[in-house]
Amino acid sequence: MTRKLYVKSYGCQMNVYDSHRMADTLAPEGYVETATPDDADLIILNTCHIREKAAEKVYSEIGRMRVLKQEAAQNGRRVLVAVAGCVAQAEGKEIVRRAPSVDLVFGPQSYHRLPDMLARAAHGKVIDTEFPAEDKFDHLAAPSKVATRKRGITAFITVQEGCDKFCTFCVVPYTRGAEVSRPVEKIAAEAARLAGDGVREITLIGQNVNAYHGEGPDGRAWTLGKLLHRLAEIPGLARLRYTTSHPRDMVSELGDSLIAAHRDLPALMPQLHLPVQSGSDRILAAMNRGHTRADYLKLIERLHAVRPDLTLSSDFIVGFPGETEEDFQDTRRLIAEVGFTAAFSFKYSPRPGTPAAEMEQLPEDIKNVRLQWLQNDIDRQQAAHFAGMRGRTVDVLFEKPGLQPGQICGKSPYQQAVHVIAPTTLIGEIHPVTIVEVVGHSLSGTLAGVPRLEPQSELQSEPQYAAAGA
Ligand code: SAH
Ligand code: SF4
Ligand code: F3S
Repeated sequence: MTRKLYVKSYGCQMNVYDSHRMADTLAPEGYVETATPDDADLIILNTCHIREKAAEKVYSEIGRMRVLKQEAAQNGRRVLVAVAGCVAQAEGKEIVRRAPSVDLVFGPQSYHRLPDMLARAAHGKVIDTEFPAEDKFDHLAAPSKVATRKRGITAFITVQEGCDKFCTFCVVPYTRGAEVSRPVEKIAAEAARLAGDGVREITLIGQNVNAYHGEGPDGRAWTLGKLLHRLAEIPGLARLRYTTSHPRDMVSELGDSLIAAHRDLPALMPQLHLPVQSGSDRILAAMNRGHTRADYLKLIERLHAVRPDLTLSSDFIVGFPGETEEDFQDTRRLIAEVGFTAAFSFKYSPRPGTPAAEMEQLPEDIKNVRLQWLQNDIDRQQAAHFAGMRGRTVDVLFEKPGLQPGQICGKSPYQQAVHVIAPTTLIGEIHPVTIVEVVGHSLSGTLAGVPRLEPQSELQSEPQYAAAGA
């Protein structure tokens, strides 16, 4: 019997990846994914606990699902509502107490038990927030060719999970557990399969992806740098990225081979997300980040020495307990010094069970003002970076049709969205594009060597590509 599955992901890319793998695992059970919860038989909310707002959002979403569930019940249809992810892990039973319409609650390490949990849900509530001994990745089904094609030509692979760093503000070590790395050959097999099904770019993901130390085919622990070398050999894979990295694992000897990979691997894209959180040594220490401002700057110097065009993005927290105006100005100075081209910035949100939540908190209005200043700084730098792209020719991997007719959209090596007027047959290919203008947070350009085309000229344009040898 075919049943419909609706999965909604919140939070980080690890959740997006997990949601795909849950759908893959339920496919053999007869579940087909649907884009709306309205007609779903099973609704999975894959949740995030990182900040209070993210966690609270879940409860309003559960409220909406309860209404759907009641309506379906009136029509004699049973809808199951499941809460997965980091809120499930952190709050467990509490969720069912607060929201009795929820049928299943399970944490990120239990996804491979989904078919079994669904069978048990027929007889009552299921709550599973254990950290099982077996590796969930060994038991989660691989995507079908059709599913991979539908997801597009870029894909994520989780290579590392969990965190041992215990930054004083963060819930992740509690929700995801200790750092675990998947073995090299399993990752390589997954990557080869994706490449065989048309994927051209893979982003390796992990809460601290550069803490990767998975078992290699030689029985030894391999670094992320070495893993990237292995994956670069896979035919069809044109681009590799990885995220999120921790500066602490980059300054250690683990980082040496990764920095060298940025020099030696053309497939490794010159864009790095390296969260620093703060530019003040006092705050970095209070956060337990395990590195100083000088360590961070030195690291960037080393990266730029091997890959001068590498662009950097980061995460920042403003209003961490005890952050003075001077600390905050140190962060702004660091932003100017590094020249980050993008960043996520957040107001510090006290999280239950974390040490910083017990410290004396700053007033909300200070956090608001600092966030505004910081976001202005970043916006200006980002705008300058985008403006500097005008007239440059960069390789673009085309991913999908654009919003305008005749337009296709792809990414520059620096992860910027680029639009050109070109036929959809180029999707999945890399072509040089000359950037003409900046449109909001994306770029628009022309295929290098081809005159600028107007929208809807898709058909006439095709022979020109052949002529340009693109
Ligand atoms: N492992 C990554 C970050 C994972 S969480 C790292 O260490 O860099 C993603 C981002 O959420 C963090 O970089 C941080 O900027 C933000 N964040 C985490 N906990 C937060 C909190 N309690 N309040 C506000 N922002 C937080
Ligand atoms: Fe959270 Fe710090 Fe671990 Fe990142 S390194 S996931 S911020 S505890
Ligand atoms: Fe959120 Fe969990 Fe990711 S708390 S950011 S979904 S690891």
